[in-house]
Amino acid sequence: MRPDRSAIFGKNKTGPLPIAEKSARMRKQRQVDATSLMAFFSELSEQTLFSRFMIALPTVPPSIFERLCDVDGNRHVGIVALDSNGNLIAEARYIRDQDSETSAEFALSIAEGWRGIGLATSMMKEIETEAQKNGIETLWADVLAENASMLALARKLGYQISRNPHDPCCKLLRKRLSSVQEMKEAA
Ligand SMILES: CC(C)(COP(=O)(O)OP(=O)(O)OC[C@H]1O[C@@H](n2cnc3c(N)ncnc32)[C@H](O)[C@@H]1OP(=O)(O)O)[C@@H](O)C(=O)NCCC(=O)NCCS
Repeated sequence: MRPDRSAIFGKNKTGPLPIAEKSARMRKQRQVDATSLMAFFSELSEQTLFSRFMIALPTVPPSIFERLCDVDGNRHVGIVALDSNGNLIAEARYIRDQDSETSAEFALSIAEGWRGIGLATSMMKEIETEAQKNGIETLWADVLAENASMLALARKLGYQISRNPHDPCCKLLRKRLSSVQEMKEAA
């Protein structure tokens, strides 16, 4: 069941970010976060790992994990959220496509006890901001067609959702971000 947000936001869902209420903070992922990231993934259920990586995994294999730790602040940007004890409770990232300078794949996961309070929304906004700053114009992701919460989040954030022609079990999410030039013109 989803938590009652009115207790956090008040009836009209305004006020401080709910993550502040639960004393979490977001920052860019660093190389030194590897151990915390490993601990975070080891706590996720197999169902969450399946939703996140779209393959059945008892744990995150070293080959994938190394890739997730290989952030460079431009080609690959990670955002992490930490609770008041410094435990990692969420991760989000984009990784630039190999064949396009202006397109990147994104993915994220939130610890099971921290869902439904707007954390993924905040993380995605942060990822979009970082992507825009780095010249990325399109963000995309493949998600399981059964992943109702991710599809609802994507819809809320303005992603186009289409069927994946190569895999009927997946949906393709895509959003065009304004380019740096467009942002300058709008300012
Ligand atoms: C999908 C996921 C990231 C959502 O995280 P979250 O922090 O709970 O999301 P938020 O609280 O920011 O909610 C954002 C929106 O998602 C949708 N949503 C979230 N949980 C939902 C649920 N259980 N049922 C339906 N919609 C849901 C809603 O549209 C919500 O907006 P609203 O509350 O204004 O209606 C999280 O469930 C998760 O980590 N899932 C496993 C990993 C995964 O699926 N990753 C995606 C692969 S890229």
